[in-house]
Amino acid sequence: MATPHINAPKDAFAATCLLPGDPLRAKFIAENFFDDAVCVNDVRNMLGYTGSYKGQPMSVMGTGMGMPSCVLYSTELMEHYGVQRLVRVGSCGAIQAALKLKDIVLAHSASTDSSMNRLRFAGMDYSAAASPRLLQKVLNHVDDKKIPVAVGQVFSTDNFYGAPDHQLALLQEVGILAVEMEAAGLYAAAARFKAQALTVLTVSDNLVTNTQLDSKEREAGFSMMIELTLNALVS
Ligand code: ADE
Repeated sequence: MATPHINAPKDAFAATCLLPGDPLRAKFIAENFFDDAVCVNDVRNMLGYTGSYKGQPMSVMGTGMGMPSCVLYSTELMEHYGVQRLVRVGSCGAIQAALKLKDIVLAHSASTDSSMNRLRFAGMDYSAAASPRLLQKVLNHVDDKKIPVAVGQVFSTDNFYGAPDHQLALLQEVGILAVEMEAAGLYAAAARFKAQALTVLTVSDNLVTNTQLDSKEREAGFSMMIELTLNALVS
């Protein structure tokens, strides 16, 4: 049975699914990292694929940008397709000067200016957190391979442009590492379905040093992060 936004049969997705925002990144991951990848969704060109990585079943699907889109797709993946491990793989804007371009950030939790979780929790502030087990799995892998990563809180914003001037200072003061647009929604959605979720990010820009990767560097950084994430998931 299909959903309004995914035209795949019920068993089309693996239990583990990577979630890049950009559907063409989903295609890139399927074509460059998976074996035997099959396209399982093309509704609205939000491409989804299932294949395997080092012999283990693995899916990848685009989510679009922002929490409404990410929550919509992740909810359908969990509720209708039984996906149990969801790993957002994306980019972020660092807000700490010490973070360099291409650094990898694991988001153990996410604050937000979005009202999505507030609406769902009747005005209360929900604490959006990654699955500790999934985070631990990735940490074990990077520790083992001596791959440097930053672990901390991110800020999921609805406002890519035009954030209030004082926002950055407030977030920096409490040590938030970076800004992105989906983690807080994904974590709350996963909790609803008792699924595991994690967000792995590469630093594509730094809002303090006012630097950014060009498109070639972005692709290289992204590939490095995907390899790390996939190897951690099958470890
Ligand atoms: N993703 C990458 N850079 C970002 C930024 N500066 N703000 C929000 N999301 C981002």
